[in-house]
Amino acid sequence: MKIAVVGSLNMDMTVTSPRIPHKGETILGDSLSFFPGGKGANQAYALGRLGAQAAMYGCVGQDDFGRQLIDNLDQAGVDASQVKRLPDVKTGVALITVAEKDNTIVVVPGANARVSPAYIDSVADRLMQSDLVMMQLEIPLDTVVHVAELCAVAGIPVLLNPAPAQLLPPRLLGQITWLTPNEHEAALLFRHQGLLDDLLLAQRGKLVVTLGKNGSAMADDSGRIIRTPASPAQVVDTTGAGDTFNAALAFALIRGDDPDQALRFANAAAALSTEKMGAQAGMPTLDEVRQRLDGQAS
Ligand code: RIB
Repeated sequence: MKIAVVGSLNMDMTVTSPRIPHKGETILGDSLSFFPGGKGANQAYALGRLGAQAAMYGCVGQDDFGRQLIDNLDQAGVDASQVKRLPDVKTGVALITVAEKDNTIVVVPGANARVSPAYIDSVADRLMQSDLVMMQLEIPLDTVVHVAELCAVAGIPVLLNPAPAQLLPPRLLGQITWLTPNEHEAALLFRHQGLLDDLLLAQRGKLVVTLGKNGSAMADDSGRIIRTPASPAQVVDTTGAGDTFNAALAFALIRGDDPDQALRFANAAAALSTEKMGAQAGMPTLDEVRQRLDGQAS
């Protein structure tokens, strides 16, 4: 099964500090590290770790960060041959503070802002050979819309992780096969203020909502609400946990897991990813996820 990710590649500049600083405050941190990141690249990397046939589509600059990010995907077995290196723009970066078992992230898109519909047209022949296309919202929205249109015509399912959150055109929402917001993003996307279960039912089979420490939830096609608890974890860094969840969910759904199994699989993968520093270092292999699930069952 070929899974394509169309999205961002960032170099994460991660500071650890005793706590998240308040607005206007200066505090002393503990360490600064550079980790490969970007929601798109993280999801592609997680797919590679799970053993999926994954390909990355996006843009970086012709700088050291861009080269490192492409090499890093290669090492995880991800086909990054279609990632474009642009001469006149810098590779995207993310400034991340890790503290209090949580994080804050500011992304400077750089080359990610140049992932245009024209770029997509230049890679469309290969992209349209995918069995599933995954996207996030760290690239221009008109590109996400364009990819969804192409996929709709070609009959290719699309998983959209709508982060960072923004309002989306109703036509785009209608073209998405699986949509994976957190609870706040879901409320914003659907302008929904009532019970989550009502929204899950209205978007049955499509909407998967991540609930942080409470796991994840969706309604299956028959209208049964499925809530799966988060897997226990020794949390070091939550950066990339959502990306791991999305990749593992896609992997499980496309291999035919039922929604209950797919959510449990994705929760376990996401939990494992939080146990190391950096978005990608803790992303698990298929065996590691299976072992974690077996351990939870016993
Ligand atoms: O989801 C985590 C990612 O968000 C980080 O790797 C950072 O690059 C931002 O894109």
